[in-house]
Amino acid sequence: MNEFDQMYREVILDHYRNPRGHGAMDDPDAEAEGMNPLCGDEVTIFVSLAEDGETIDDVKFSGRGCAISQAATSMLTEMVKGRSAIDVATLPKEELLEEIGIPLTPIRLKCALLGLGVLKVALHRAKGTPLPEEWAGLDDEFQVR
Ligand code: FES
Repeated sequence: MNEFDQMYREVILDHYRNPRGHGAMDDPDAEAEGMNPLCGDEVTIFVSLAEDGETIDDVKFSGRGCAISQAATSMLTEMVKGRSAIDVATLPKEELLEEIGIPLTPIRLKCALLGLGVLKVALHRAKGTPLPEEWAGLDDEFQVR
């Protein structure tokens, strides 16, 4: 493993051990829960919007799962605060994968994208933001409830 991969691994482990935005929210403006059926890991996301009804004021998540799913969701909460719902609805998955920084196998990719998918579904349900094609099958794939 090279120096950069090592550095990214340490950042991921830090997010896993000290997740940012971990917890629940009373009365969120948007909420969704999803499960990766391959492993049964779960993520629930809560969003509160600013007074304009568009800007993401705060995001919290709870769940259990592998280091990648939990760390990626933790990173995601930091990435999306202050952005508009529509911005996040159209946020390309590559942006999060870049933040994660290490190459992932297809199975790990599902782990890494669980939180992002759940967040997009939460916004889609609450705000009617578009759910891009690639996430449209999410209900089956990730069993979003
Ligand atoms: Fe379940 Fe990673 S092994 S989300």
